[in-house]
Amino acid sequence: MSGRFDGKVAVVTGAAAGFGLATSTRLAEEGARVVMVDWSADQLHAAAEKLGQLPVVADVSQEADVDGYVRAAVDAYGRIDLFHNNAGIEGRMAPMTELSVEDFDRVWAVNGRGVFLGLRAVLKVMKPQRSGAIVNTASMAAIKGAAAFSPYIASKHAVLGLTKSAALEGGPFGIRVNCVAPGHIDTRMARDLTKQINPDDPDGVFESVSASVPLHGRYGTATEVANLVIFLLSDEAEYISGSLHLIDGALNAG
Ligand SMILES: NC(=O)c1ccc[n+]([C@@H]2O[C@H](COP(=O)([O-])OP(=O)(O)OC[C@H]3O[C@@H](n4cnc5c(N)ncnc54)[C@H](O)[C@@H]3O)[C@@H](O)[C@H]2O)c1
Repeated sequence: MSGRFDGKVAVVTGAAAGFGLATSTRLAEEGARVVMVDWSADQLHAAAEKLGQLPVVADVSQEADVDGYVRAAVDAYGRIDLFHNNAGIEGRMAPMTELSVEDFDRVWAVNGRGVFLGLRAVLKVMKPQRSGAIVNTASMAAIKGAAAFSPYIASKHAVLGLTKSAALEGGPFGIRVNCVAPGHIDTRMARDLTKQINPDDPDGVFESVSASVPLHGRYGTATEVANLVIFLLSDEAEYISGSLHLIDGALNAG
């Protein structure tokens, strides 16, 4: 079967579930060889086996692990063409006055430092190739605040800043860097957030969030996000770099 990504080598972080799994699936369907990275070993191995792709267990917040997953990709396939820098965590929801330094640092380590480390290591491979496409997973939290969610909000604003900086650094080498900014998407993370918002009635939270979305009155799906990611990774997006791409059912259009 021939596809848009025949012969391409892709690395996807957070690949055991949610958006990362959906992107890995679409990339594999369209011909890419995918290096699937996650810290959740059992789930990752099961997912990679199902897709027939290469699993690498790594914590994206750790420098040695990040250098390790990039080395594993290059050792296996000799190059990296596509990178979905996606792994992230939501952390604890609470007003700033009730957060510990550890609460902040935990989210920052994965969502901020992890995205930086991934960009740094992958750009080192892509620059000599003089080609590559990268999509970071930001969030609508990259463009707006939210009470009781400051570490996550700050980390996703940082993803937008890292995206712009990397696009400027990569541009002269033919490397494109964008970020996606999903709204409410039905994954493990979104379900856990409904429990944090109201442990007594997470289903009620899910329903009211769904009703707040202008388009279709529902959460998005991981596959809908993956469809945007793979467009941005594809040659069809050849002139798109340095920008944020909302996928939120018009939630932030007002
Ligand atoms: N679901 C949403 O509504 C939503 C909206 C906007 C942005 N996002 C962002 O999308 C990304 C993916 O989220 P999701 O909804 O698919 O969540 P998810 O929890 O379903 O999947 C995240 C995956 O990342 C892995 N992961 C987490 N921390 C890791 C680490 N340090 N090292 C390696 N792997 C790690 C997890 O094991 C999991 O497999 C995150 O960056 C999240 O912030 C999600």
